[in-house]
Amino acid sequence: MLYGADYNPDQWSEDVWDDDIRLMREAGVNIVSLGIFSWSKIQPTEHEWDFAWLDTVIDKLHAGGIHVNLATATASPPPWASATYPDILPADENGATYWPGSRQHFAPSSPTYRRLAAELARRIAERYVGHPAVVMWHVNNEYGCHLHADYSDNAREAYRRWLREKYTSIDALNRAWGTAFWSQRYAAFEEVFPPRLAPYSHNPSSMLDWRRFTSDMLLECYLMEREILLAAGATQPISTNFMGPFKPADYSRWAPHMDVIADDCYPDQTSPTRVRDSAFQRDLIRSLKPGVPWLLWEQATDAVNWRHANPGKAPGVLAAESAQSVARGADGIMFFQWRQSRAGSEKFHSAMLPHAGTDTKIWREVVDLGATLGGLGELPAPGRDARVALVFDWENWWAVEERDHPVTVDYLAVVRDWYGAFHARGIMVDIVPPEKVDDGYDLAVAPLLYLLRDDGAEALTRFVDAGGTLLAGPFTDVVDEHDQFRDGGFLTQLGPVLGVRVEDFGALGDGTRVDGSGVGAMAHAADGAAETVRFGFAGGQTGTLMAEALTVADAEVLARFTDGRAVGRAALTRRMHGAGQSWYVATLPDAAGIAAVADALIAASGVRPVVEGLPEGVEVASRGDLVTVINHTARDVEVRIDGADAATGAAVEHRILEPQGVMFALAPRAAAERAPVAASATS
Ligand code: GLA
Ligand code: GLA
Repeated sequence: MLYGADYNPDQWSEDVWDDDIRLMREAGVNIVSLGIFSWSKIQPTEHEWDFAWLDTVIDKLHAGGIHVNLATATASPPPWASATYPDILPADENGATYWPGSRQHFAPSSPTYRRLAAELARRIAERYVGHPAVVMWHVNNEYGCHLHADYSDNAREAYRRWLREKYTSIDALNRAWGTAFWSQRYAAFEEVFPPRLAPYSHNPSSMLDWRRFTSDMLLECYLMEREILLAAGATQPISTNFMGPFKPADYSRWAPHMDVIADDCYPDQTSPTRVRDSAFQRDLIRSLKPGVPWLLWEQATDAVNWRHANPGKAPGVLAAESAQSVARGADGIMFFQWRQSRAGSEKFHSAMLPHAGTDTKIWREVVDLGATLGGLGELPAPGRDARVALVFDWENWWAVEERDHPVTVDYLAVVRDWYGAFHARGIMVDIVPPEKVDDGYDLAVAPLLYLLRDDGAEALTRFVDAGGTLLAGPFTDVVDEHDQFRDGGFLTQLGPVLGVRVEDFGALGDGTRVDGSGVGAMAHAADGAAETVRFGFAGGQTGTLMAEALTVADAEVLARFTDGRAVGRAALTRRMHGAGQSWYVATLPDAAGIAAVADALIAASGVRPVVEGLPEGVEVASRGDLVTVINHTARDVEVRIDGADAATGAAVEHRILEPQGVMFALAPRAAAERAPVAASATS
């Protein structure tokens, strides 16, 4: 189990470094991510290189037994780079430049940025590739975190190249984008611009390609550095830090290029859905590379500095949130950052070593956590623990949240609401694109899959044919991969499997009002309740967003709308199909409705919770033979598990978990196999 943090020794004088290492050892730290923002220190001017300090730090860490996750340091170009080469700077959709003075002020498609970053990465790689302290490579940092898209002239040139490679002929682009509409037909790739400020909405098919391009440009930067590291002889795992469900980067396409998936997770301490949302993030991250443990590269020990209000963590929450990562597949728990900064934008951000020193709640919890993780020993790899596939897809996210739709959709919120029902029931879920739904699952839930690629439709169809239970939600199978309707309207791919057709999407009022007169000034503000619709299932449920007008061709109607414009029409259907069954729900049920439908699906598909009968607020997850129970409630709970304590090997049939209490238990069979390991860990 790796334990550590981002380490920024260049923010401190050298006399602090020995103290850092002494305290790291005291906390059980065994790895640091080093040099992430050190470009201006390593290369103070264009033709000057200073590695002496880094040599010293790495040697000291090595002597102290602390591994290094060495950064390529390319995330924040130094002042000389922006001053000498203003063409590295990105621009927004209005053509305004993002100037230096912060970080991430680079255009990913800028050839000059890439040249400068490549040289830096190469020099670092060649110097340290054989250093015994270096066990991993940290490429750049949180690609796209602040700068979600770049509209500069460099981007314009790169976009034209990218489109030419994708479409070869301009006619193919015209067809894919439907440019017969509004006189948008292009005669040459040189006529295409990034979607800069325009009088009204951009062509939605072009927006989809723009988002693919934007994700690809960031990925290209990563791949460039990865190649440099490999060319220098790197044998250590190479990765960059993801940010969970981060819309601008399609991590499902990035994941194959990561040797290990690394994630940064900062649960919002003020959110009532904090535990659910962080569990969702960890399951999403685990699902990107099945069978391979992932690493939490960043979390906060306490408060962050970047939300409107930044309360710290309640006692025990740090350990409980860390346990959630381990439970859901992490083999490393790391923080931003080791020592709290004295200056700069993040001087109020918590760290492992706070300004207030070691006689603090933070330090005590950090030391305790290090001891807990250190006692766990080697854990089973996360396997195929989940029998439920929750379909989540970046391209669908991009497409469904474009403008000009029947109703505004918050896709992540919809998917998380469905996730919550399974999380609350202690049922393991993988979060995957539709193409990854296969017969390793018993149940697949596709809550809102507006954009459905042919391969995805085939996978879902095969899944039901082979005996799986599929639930599809409203506004699913509407468009193809170009955001165009297919011949025959909607539900053209899944209609035969589901036994229903959609006649109309039946948008409901979404409870927002539009302020301002011009389109450019448009702002949505919450204005009371969204329009709801009732449907008769499990005692009567409420739906929002849409109440679709379904035509039932060949399916059983389990519930009908009992009010609204679709009154009397089917709201929930089921069809036995092939060896499986397919369900369709024509609205977005509220929490109670999702819970009721989920219960019916669980019964129909036979999926089981990890542990039966845990009280509300008590989380459970399985990871191979490891079962983790976390008490997120404010009271003691009694947990009965037939297994062995993962650290001590002692039997844990019955235990009282205090608030935020955690139990790591190995199932009986695994406990027996692991007995010698557990025994040596306690001696
Ligand atoms: C991100 C960055 C870090 C730091 C933290 C603060 O995760 O990668 O450098 O800014 O946020 O929460
Ligand atoms: C205006 C425009 C039309 C069409 C409609 C849609 O009237 O003139 O081209 O866009 O709005 O409501």
